[in-house]
Amino acid sequence: VLGGPQDDDLTGVHVVVTAGGTREPLDPVRYLGNRSSGKQGYALAEVAARRGAKVTLISSSSLPTPAGVDLVQVETALQLREQVLATRADVVVMAAAVADFRPAHVSGTKIKKTHDAADPDAAPTVELVRNPDILVDLVQRRADASRPVIVGFAAETGDQNGDVITHARAKLERKGCDLLVANEVGDGVTFGQDDTTVHLLRRDTPDVTTIGPASKSAVATAVWDAVLPLVRTS
Ligand code: CTP
Ligand code: CA
Repeated sequence: VLGGPQDDDLTGVHVVVTAGGTREPLDPVRYLGNRSSGKQGYALAEVAARRGAKVTLISSSSLPTPAGVDLVQVETALQLREQVLATRADVVVMAAAVADFRPAHVSGTKIKKTHDAADPDAAPTVELVRNPDILVDLVQRRADASRPVIVGFAAETGDQNGDVITHARAKLERKGCDLLVANEVGDGVTFGQDDTTVHLLRRDTPDVTTIGPASKSAVATAVWDAVLPLVRTS
């Protein structure tokens, strides 16, 4: 891509990319997490920077920061939400795997194996509460219907209620974002894997673009190609 015709087509565009799986603490040494590597979000940030965008990467991953990208490190869904809502960008890409739930109580001290003297063999029960849906918040807080452009991600499998694209279309409508990147998962193939197949769905057309199996960098290029016509700066 370096030296290619796409160079600098995102100049003057401020993009925010979120990446990685959030970590929801239970106590000072433990958290609830997920298997998201963050690689797709980092590829999106890297490609956008190479194409001239001003890039803010809000991440709960510890991958190396791509060249020309401003990193904001977060850990939890609530921290990620605070940072994303504080930005004023032209495009927000929610590639992060945001935990749907977090422990209702975070212990200030390490939870001991024997936590109940009356019943030394008891195991604790972890109560969870829902995290806010950041993507939905972004859409609802948008003052102008076309700015920022909001991109969601979804890992989907087909099931008895419909195929991957049917589920993805329903999610796009539910969330109200402009573009949804649907990852085909299943058979344990996607997480951490280098090549993926994704479907790009836009809210303004029933057409679906399928990419892959392709590298995360090729997927990132295709996502920015799809975002570019929706961007309105100034
Ligand atoms: N997302 C978010 N805030 C959450 C959960 C998800 O912003 N609390 C975003 C993700 O970053 C992603 C999109 O919403 O861009 C879809 O996430 P997904 O987990 O597929 O959707 P959910 O609505 O959580 O549905 P599911 O029950 O399938 O997990
Ligand atoms: Ca979810």
